Amino acid sequence: MRFCGSEVESRFFLAPMAGVTDAPFRAVCERYGAALTYTEMVSARALTYQDEKSGRMLRLPEGHKPCFAQIFGSDPDVMAEGARRALEISGAQGIDINMGCPVSKIVGNGEGSALMRDPKRAEAILRAVVRAVPVPVTVKFRKGFEGGSDTCVEFAKMAEQTGIAALCVHGRTRAQMYTGASDREVVARVKAAVTSIPVIASGDALSARACMEILRETGVDYVMIARGAEGNPFIFRDCLRAAEGLPPERLSCGELLDTLLAHARAMAEWKGERSLVEFRKHGLWYLGRLAGVKPFKVRMSGVSGLEELEALCEEIRKEDPAVKEV
Ligand SMILES: Cc1cc2nc3c(=O)[nH]c(=O)nc-3n(C[C@H](O)[C@H](O)[C@H](O)COP(=O)(O)O)c2cc1C
Repeated sequence: MRFCGSEVESRFFLAPMAGVTDAPFRAVCERYGAALTYTEMVSARALTYQDEKSGRMLRLPEGHKPCFAQIFGSDPDVMAEGARRALEISGAQGIDINMGCPVSKIVGNGEGSALMRDPKRAEAILRAVVRAVPVPVTVKFRKGFEGGSDTCVEFAKMAEQTGIAALCVHGRTRAQMYTGASDREVVARVKAAVTSIPVIASGDALSARACMEILRETGVDYVMIARGAEGNPFIFRDCLRAAEGLPPERLSCGELLDTLLAHARAMAEWKGERSLVEFRKHGLWYLGRLAGVKPFKVRMSGVSGLEELEALCEEIRKEDPAVKEV
């Protein structure tokens, strides 16, 4: 099937997550079946300043599956220039615009979900970016800004008219941050209101079962997996199986540890071995799938080198703890 000009293998995408969906993690998820991925969000303004760290976040490895580079900002001209830079650096298959980030620092600058309160500016940004780059442009936003508001349907209709190629709605308001349930009913209303471009759902895609329910109940074209993939890239395999009517494949402790180590090695290679400090949270998420491993978790939270991590995994392997269901 085709999504925004790219061939995608399924309806299951890896969502953008700042501090999480870097190249090594995206590659692990791709291996388990993520059909399309997003980079972490990157500041358009920083890109226009040639900021090195922002640029590094957009480097894509060879042989990657379709990937969209996500940028955030509030000024249409800066966003257009940021999008051009993002594309130049990444060679990504498309540019995604963040209009959903709820973090105060971002919102305070009129960026991320703040744009849902300023649809005129949001529209100007979308039009400017669509004009600026020769690849598909998409946008990700929330149910609304204030608690209880559901401006997303109007927002989606506005966005559809700007020339974007797809949109993604997260069924929580900015006020909810990441708490409470994601509203599937409002996502279904967005899907019904948008007829000319694909709609992606985000929110509470925490298991293959949940992903299948979201697709069925909302009628959306694709579902984006975020927290459900943390320490659990296996969710994509479960989703591919669920789409075939099959139950999840039983995950063994050995496979979990092999994947953890492959992920850590890829991270050390991509960012240098010092990045293992950054890997700790991933390690802890993986160990979250194992029963009775508290002392190992304490050690994981202090791990700082590959050899140390390998030795720790060997000890866990010997104990062969049970793998918890998701
Ligand atoms: C740690 C973290 C970082 C995130 N960073 C981004 C981001 O950079 N861009 C974005 O559009 N959404 C970001 N999100 C939101 C997710 O993409 C997703 O919409 C949200 O987590 C809801 O899905 P879930 O309930 O299945 O986790 C982030 C979420 C988390 C938990």
